[in-house]
Amino acid sequence: MTKQVALITGAYKGLGLEIGRQLGQMGIIVLLGARDRAKAEAAAHILQGEHIEAHGVELDVTNSDQIKAVVNKMESDFGRLDILVNNAGVYTDHLGTHIDAIRASFEVNLFGPQALTEALLPLLKASPAGRIVNQSSILGSLGTLLTNPMYGERSVPAYTTSKAALNAWTVQLSIALRDTMIKVNSCHPGWVKTDMGGAGAPMEIREGAESAVWLATLPKDGPTGGFFHKREPLPW
Ligand SMILES: NC(=O)c1ccc[n+]([C@@H]2O[C@H](COP(=O)([O-])OP(=O)(O)OC[C@H]3O[C@@H](n4cnc5c(N)ncnc54)[C@H](OP(=O)(O)O)[C@@H]3O)[C@@H](O)[C@H]2O)c1
Repeated sequence: MTKQVALITGAYKGLGLEIGRQLGQMGIIVLLGARDRAKAEAAAHILQGEHIEAHGVELDVTNSDQIKAVVNKMESDFGRLDILVNNAGVYTDHLGTHIDAIRASFEVNLFGPQALTEALLPLLKASPAGRIVNQSSILGSLGTLLTNPMYGERSVPAYTTSKAALNAWTVQLSIALRDTMIKVNSCHPGWVKTDMGGAGAPMEIREGAESAVWLATLPKDGPTGGFFHKREPLPW
């Protein structure tokens, strides 16, 4: 099988769907993960209508049984995975600053990607050029947290700490995988018009997907263990 295979989480809408579209337009087979199987299949149907080889998969990144099922499917259908985009994410700060909101954020924004990636590592290692992209946020950048005008004086502990932890894990995973062909990077998509970003965001979804797509298709001499927006490094 010569075609590359990509799995994108949280991909029935927003940035995830567009990342699937842009990878699919490059001839890559895309598996679109969503918590709701019908939504995953409907999203795959949209891309199929655009002549993209897309499949919908039921995948709540916090559900270990669903992670196992996806790994098994990937193994039997393709025997490897070339690209994993950990895109699914939640913003729980509207629930308050209590510990439950912070835990809920870590479950999806950090522990889910960690569990899924760990389970898929053997299949990523079977690829000649495995790529892992963690969809982070500039709000996870400790270097800019105090000066970021997007939040001003408002405290958003759940989102910022979970994305900062995701960034730290990106570096650790890249170190663990440095003797493999796999590259691991984080990106900030920009402030994008999605359900999470809101209608007032300045960036269109197509442009927001580009940072993740670039990292998902890096050449052999591309970076690993970095944090990027529009191909430029960001401060941790
Ligand atoms: N939009 C921005 O301005 C912006 C900026 C920086 C970073 N990001 C990041 O970009 C990523 C995509 O966000 P978006 O802007 O495209 O927002 P979105 O349209 O709200 O998409 C978020 C996706 O994550 C999925 N999701 C949530 N919990 C999940 C779980 N447990 N398992 C699997 N999927 C789950 C959602 O599915 P359900 O509908 O089923 O919950 C949804 O498909 C997120 O990681 C976000 O933090 C976005």
